[in-house]
Amino acid sequence: MLHVENLSVEYGAIQALKNIQIDVFPGEIVSLVGSNGAGKTTFLRTISGLIKAKAGKIKFIDNFIQTLPTHEIVTLGISQSPEGRMVFPDMSVKENLLMGCFAFSYSKEEIQTNIERMINWFPRLGERINQKAILLSGGEQQMLAIARALMAKPKLLLLDEPSLGIAPLVVQQIFKIIVELNREGMTILLAEQNARLALKISHRAYVLELGTIIKQGEASLLLHDKDVQRAYLGG
Ligand SMILES: Nc1ncnc2c1ncn2[C@@H]1O[C@H](COP(=O)(O)OP(=O)(O)OP(=O)(O)O)[C@@H](O)[C@H]1O
Ligand SMILES: [Mg+2]
Repeated sequence: MLHVENLSVEYGAIQALKNIQIDVFPGEIVSLVGSNGAGKTTFLRTISGLIKAKAGKIKFIDNFIQTLPTHEIVTLGISQSPEGRMVFPDMSVKENLLMGCFAFSYSKEEIQTNIERMINWFPRLGERINQKAILLSGGEQQMLAIARALMAKPKLLLLDEPSLGIAPLVVQQIFKIIVELNREGMTILLAEQNARLALKISHRAYVLELGTIIKQGEASLLLHDKDVQRAYLGG
């Protein structure tokens, strides 16, 4: 579904990604693990067209997307829940959800059905549908960021650090929903510093260090890999 070849990204003199090769196949959860500054966010933002690659190709289904603007990439079927959630604080939950599909000309009925679908996934959002997003807890804002991304009915959902700064119990709830979304057919690319959590729910994973992929493979094997355990799993 997603095929990334020789991708390099620079911020001025800093080379943030070097020759990255990543594939995501339909129906997978693939995670990208690595510590602070490894390049996870840079990678996801480049897929979404928010950062332009210095070199390399990004193929999504049948389209090369590395030069396309973000709204076209969203229309093709990739949407993202960004690091730090980035909900619109003064807009209501409902208005935030609507922002997720503004690139589409859905009818009122379609939008309403879509919002109901989100409330089914995240009942907490339904209870707070007219509240300003700034009044939500961190976990609820994370749910809102994911739901906003889902409003675009993506084929590939990009999640950047959905566990960041959230209480463990709520993280469990959110990860359970991520697994259920995947069981219903959603393909997911997940960037996480919490490697254990990410590897537990993923089919495959890539380990990123200083902008380079240093390991890749089945998530269950990486969970038991000695180097991965030492560097990322506190063992
Ligand atoms: N806008 C920017 N300008 C310059 N350098 C940047 C910029 N954004 C990121 N970087 C640098 O690029 C590298 C990769 O950063 P990135 O945010 O992609 O890492 P990350 O894996 O997402 O880290 P974290 O786990 O902290 O979110 C780091 O060295 C970072 O300092
Ligand atoms: Mg990041």
